[in-house]
Order: sequence, then C-alpha cells, then structure tokens
Amino acid sequence: MSPEAAVPQMPLPTAIADREPIDPTIDLEEEIQRLKKERNAIILAHYYQDGEIQDIADFVGDSLGLSQQAAKTDADVIAFCGVHFMAETAKILNMGKTVIMPDPDAGCSLADRCPPDVFAEWMKQYPDHVVVSYINTSAAIKALSDIICTSTNAVRVVESIPEDKKIVFCPDRHLGRWVMKKTGRDMVLWPGFCVVHEQFTARKIHKLHQEYPEAKLIAHPECEQTVLDIADYIGSTNQLINYVVETKEFDTFIVATEMGVMHQMRKKRPGVKVIGAPPDSGCECAVCPYMRLNTMEKLYVALRDLKPEITVPEDIAKRALAPVEKMLALG
Ligand code: 13P
Ligand code: SF4
Repeated sequence: MSPEAAVPQMPLPTAIADREPIDPTIDLEEEIQRLKKERNAIILAHYYQDGEIQDIADFVGDSLGLSQQAAKTDADVIAFCGVHFMAETAKILNMGKTVIMPDPDAGCSLADRCPPDVFAEWMKQYPDHVVVSYINTSAAIKALSDIICTSTNAVRVVESIPEDKKIVFCPDRHLGRWVMKKTGRDMVLWPGFCVVHEQFTARKIHKLHQEYPEAKLIAHPECEQTVLDIADYIGSTNQLINYVVETKEFDTFIVATEMGVMHQMRKKRPGVKVIGAPPDSGCECAVCPYMRLNTMEKLYVALRDLKPEITVPEDIAKRALAPVEKMLALG
C-alpha cells in the first residue's frame, strides 16, 4: 500500500493551501491592531500561546474564561488564538458571528482521540449515566453530552449532579480521576489523555525538586496521578497563575503544565522564579505542538482575509449549546 493510501485523505485547510509568504518587514503588531479595528474584531488567546500572541490579545485566559468572554462579546469577528475545540465553542455560542483561527490544524490530543461515532457506541453500555464532557472535545461530542466542564470548574460541575445519578466523564482520564478524588463520586472514565501533560513523570520532577528544594511544585490536573500525588498545588492554568501571583511567601515554583503560562506568571509577578517541569521525552520544556501552530503571521492573514473560518453544522451547534450554557450558568 502506498503511503498516500495509508494516510486518510483530508482536505487541505485553506490556511495552508493559500499560505503565501509574508513580507518580513511588515510591522505585524501594527497591522493586526489596524485590521482588528477595521473588522470590529476581538482577539482571544489561551495562556498556552506564545507570549507575543498573548500580548496582542484583548483577553488572555483559560478555557473557562475564554468561553465566558466569547459568550458576552459584541464584536463582529472573534479571532481565536487557541486550539480548534476552543474556537468551535466560541462559534457554538456565536452562530451569527464570524469566528476565525490563525491555524485550524491546531487540534488537541484529547478532542482528537474521542471520535463521536466511537463514543456514541461506547455510551450504549451506560444508557442511564449523566455525560460530563471536558471542554476539550469536538462540538459533536458536546452535542452528545449533558453538561460541559473545564479544569477550573470540573469539581463544581460534578458536585452539581444529584448523588443518585451515575456519571460518565470524558475524555481525560487523569482529570476525571482527580475529580473523583475531590468529590468522592464514582465515575466511568473515557481513557483519553493529553500528549503534553502525560510527558511529565514524578521521577524527573522529583530529581528537579532536589535541585530546588525551596520550590513549590504546582501541576495541572491533566498530569498523571503520580505527578499530582507529589504536587503542592493542583489547578487549571488560571488557578496556577493566580497561585504563583498570590503565594508571596514563596518565590520559586516548578510548573507542571505547558510553558506558555509562565509568561503571565512573570508578567504578573516580576522577579518570580518559575521553572518548567521537564517532560520525559528528551525535550527541555513542555510545549503544546497544536497551540504553537498559531503564529503572528497567521493571525495577521486570518484578520486580513477573514479566514480560515470555523464553522459548526446548525443541528450540532444547537445540541451542543445547551450543555455549554449549563456549564456557564454554574460559572
Ligand atoms: P485550562 O482549562 O486550564 O485552560 O486547560 C486547557 C488545556 O488544554 C489544558 O491542557
Ligand atoms: Fe490539548 Fe494537551 Fe494541547 Fe491542552 S496541552 S490543547 S489538552 S494537547
């Protein structure tokens, strides 16, 4: 079989098919600001984006904060610098608006490894269960869910479900296990994981901690149980940033999540020492390969051409909206 036959044929995203060289002398920041005004656009960026993108955004946040901003914006265009499921969520909340992404190939290992047809089949074993889906899922999975959560509000969301109800949690098994521990609820877990957070190991982190015994170890709940077991604090990206900013009695932190968060930690608490936990992959730092597909050049082109545009079929958007709004109502 030829390699072409083995690889599923996918249509080339417009961003890649049309990509032309950008004049390197253009002042991209100035051009992006100009186009943003011209288009009445808002730029939303996740903490895992490069510092340059975070700095030009109107709002930088975690998955929950970004959804809340998307729900209340009156801009005509949302330029979403994050991964595909985040832009899709913004679209579900704004079907009448234009949602663009610098690079729509920016997927997510959690969302990609939970295909809706396989999930629907698997769910046949659990017909009487409430489906709690992490926001890191496709619109089609959201449409099959009862309520959505993010890492900031997962505990709150699960606690909102009556005690006598059985729960399926998808797709992150590590976040799911952590929520089970925090809430005391038993849940059926879809066996998904994040390719960035699974690369942290307790062994490597422990070794680094010995070099910096004064450091507090903080971790995202997408990390494996063994990493979470040795963490001093566990939280979403926003919670980790707040912890570093507010925990003034310590000034050194080992951070087990994507290194983009360290940009805000340093910005909000100048002088703080934040050390990225080393992935067990031979790399020096943990970077989400999907998030980092977005660049200033691609953001400029997206605002200039108003594409690549994120679309969601009407029927799926309609079904996915209810569980997203249920989550937003809980905060
Ligand atoms: P947050 O909910 O902290 O934004 O996390 C999103 C994410 O993709 C973590 O890998
Ligand atoms: Fe998905 Fe992991 Fe990247 Fe977050 S860090 S977007 S969970 S692949």
